[in-house]
Amino acid sequence: MSAARKKASVLDFYDMESPEATELRRLLHNIDNSANGGEKRTLLVTSSVLSEGKSIIAALLAITAARHKKRKTLLIDFDLRRPMVHKLYGLPLEKGVADILLDGLSARSVIKNTSIERLDAITAGRVLSNASEVIDGAAVHRIMEEMKFYYELILVDSPPLVPVMDPLILLDELDGAIMVIKAGATQKSVVSRACNLLATVRKDKFVGVVVNNLNRSLPYYYDYNYYGYSYKGAAK
Ligand SMILES: Nc1ncnc2c1ncn2[C@@H]1O[C@H](COP(=O)(O)OP(=O)(O)OP(=O)(O)O)[C@@H](O)[C@H]1O
Ligand SMILES: [Mg+2]
Repeated sequence: MSAARKKASVLDFYDMESPEATELRRLLHNIDNSANGGEKRTLLVTSSVLSEGKSIIAALLAITAARHKKRKTLLIDFDLRRPMVHKLYGLPLEKGVADILLDGLSARSVIKNTSIERLDAITAGRVLSNASEVIDGAAVHRIMEEMKFYYELILVDSPPLVPVMDPLILLDELDGAIMVIKAGATQKSVVSRACNLLATVRKDKFVGVVVNNLNRSLPYYYDYNYYGYSYKGAAK
């Protein structure tokens, strides 16, 4: 593909020295060093409601893990209703999670390489409005077991917690969840409801919070332009 026709992608413009990259590095570091709940190799990235920045955070976190932490990393798009990973990484949507779940393709056969060393992705495959019926725990378990053989870190982009069941079905089969909160936009009561939903599954799976959009909700003198995070339970 010629350079002119190459699709725009966060892989090209993510600045590893930016404040948000530093925050995401710190989040990965803290997850690694947390004694809470054992190994955290498969992580869900979710939020309370729509459009809080789950997909962008998952995409940037995966780049950070592969580039900076030198981890063999896979990002899987399990948001079958509003898939984004293919757009963010400039990859085709087709052949992905939906094809594994509905047509029995192996996860290995739908892995796509990215331009970044050690970073691969599995895109959604197609848009499915009935995702909760299609995503079953046993299938997710099989995908994770197969992929853990090839990757040190597996990040899963998902729909939000409050409106649909998919993230909780996924979390049953994953080691932990990172919650993205859009500062200044999502109401505290809604975040509380989402945290309660997470706690009903397993409290020890709640590994971190990413606060997105801080520039809109914090005074100008804060250093971060876009992201900050606080580790464990700061979303109260
Ligand atoms: N920190 C940010 N700065 C600027 N734009 C942002 C930031 N975070 C997210 N956005 C923009 O907000 C929109 C929603 O982001 P994103 O798709 O990552 O959210 P999402 O939570 O995955 O949404 P959905 O619920 O649709 O899956 C996108 O257009 C994205 O580019
Ligand atoms: Mg998304």
